[in-house]
Amino acid sequence: MTSSTPPKAKQPRPVQTWHFARRTPGFLTDLQKEHGDVFGIHFQKRPWTIVAHPDAVKQVFTAPTSALRAGSGNEILGPPLGQHSLLLLDGAEHMRQRRMLLPSFHGEKLALQKAAMERVAEQQVALMPRGTPFALRPRMQSIALEVIMEVVLGTAATGVQHDTLSKAVEDLLEWLMVPRRLITTGMLGPKHPVVKWMFRSVLQPLDQGLYALIAERRLATDLDERDDILSMMLLARDEEGNPMSDAEVRDELVTLIVAGHETTSTALSWAFERLSRDPAGLARLEAESHTDATEWSDAVAKEALRLRPVLDFVVRAVHEPIEIAGYNFVPGDIVTPCIKLVHMREDIYPDAEAFKPERWLDTKPGTYTWIPFGGGTRRCIGLSFAMAEMDVVLRAVARSAHVEPVGDEEHAVSRFITSSPSRGGEVLIPA
Ligand code: HEM
Repeated sequence: MTSSTPPKAKQPRPVQTWHFARRTPGFLTDLQKEHGDVFGIHFQKRPWTIVAHPDAVKQVFTAPTSALRAGSGNEILGPPLGQHSLLLLDGAEHMRQRRMLLPSFHGEKLALQKAAMERVAEQQVALMPRGTPFALRPRMQSIALEVIMEVVLGTAATGVQHDTLSKAVEDLLEWLMVPRRLITTGMLGPKHPVVKWMFRSVLQPLDQGLYALIAERRLATDLDERDDILSMMLLARDEEGNPMSDAEVRDELVTLIVAGHETTSTALSWAFERLSRDPAGLARLEAESHTDATEWSDAVAKEALRLRPVLDFVVRAVHEPIEIAGYNFVPGDIVTPCIKLVHMREDIYPDAEAFKPERWLDTKPGTYTWIPFGGGTRRCIGLSFAMAEMDVVLRAVARSAHVEPVGDEEHAVSRFITSSPSRGGEVLIPA
């Protein structure tokens, strides 16, 4: 083993925090130019080591889970998601929960879930304004929230409960999007009493609604006939035959709802922000949307996720000494494969700044070079769900509306941990 540690950004911590939280263009690429593909930044309680080379990303994604842990790396998400969240767990406990959730994302379930996506997308596209500019992100968010609530909770038919829970989720999301809340949580740490106090009132209505729904659903006699993920969670048993507790179910529900709709709606907003500025690519999607083919919509989704990934990083906390890219890491260090920097590598993606869906027509995404959903044993559990939803919504919009760009290209702004288009993906659909 070598004994070196990676080079580090030199600016003071508050300056790094500011640039990081604001997604200052060029902040990370400039550091990469100065220091290479592995370098340190310090903006949270603990410094991060950014990893921007696919070989090093492979080392991170294939490292033993005893050495690199995603759960403790994601601890900033603890206050809203809860300690049992799949995103927060590690080791055997993570595998136990992941095994119980995986059946909900199997292929045959996806066919049913796609039907819900199609219905919701058609309804929402019909409601989009004609002849006046509007931001797509809130519209995409309505689609993704409605889809995830229906698929996860199965509450479509029960009006008041559905509306109350949707409102509580929307309120939580909007509350989280205020940058100072992320900064405070990052600087103080998620277990700090001030942070706990900050979150208490915004979580209360959501928790109340979810625990009531869980109690009600536990009494249902038709659980095994229902297709929603909540019912599947209540039926799931671990290897010792134990069911999930109410607190575990609550935390996984919030995880799936939050992780499953803000991400997908942001990805869709970026896809249209890019595609509306690519007339030939848009025309091709419009033509394809009237057929059964999905080759181009799939390529558009992949390219949007490459060029404008929703999350810039995935995070791993070091728990045992490990060497990555020739550097030594010790317990307490944080290693973060940088999705954004890997996706902008000219050696992998020639003309990397350009939006070119055709890159994907004959090329499969590489495990360590196309990483919008992370990787290894922690790869996003909702990958197929998200890709299916992007496909359905891209096609539904293109089938009945022609989206034109409004104003200049949009840059990325921070919405909690996501990178979102600065004006929400503004478009015009001619009257
Ligand atoms: C375009 C949409 C989406 C993007 C870009 C995305 C991205 C990600 C990323 C980067 C991770 C972390 C992976 C890692 O640490 O290696 C993740 C994990 C996760 N995602 Fe997604 N996601 C999306 C949609 C969804 C959907 C639709 C769901 C659920 C319905 C979902 C549920 C989860 C869960 C539960 C995890 C934690 C997995 C684990 O730790 O085992 N995501 N996602």
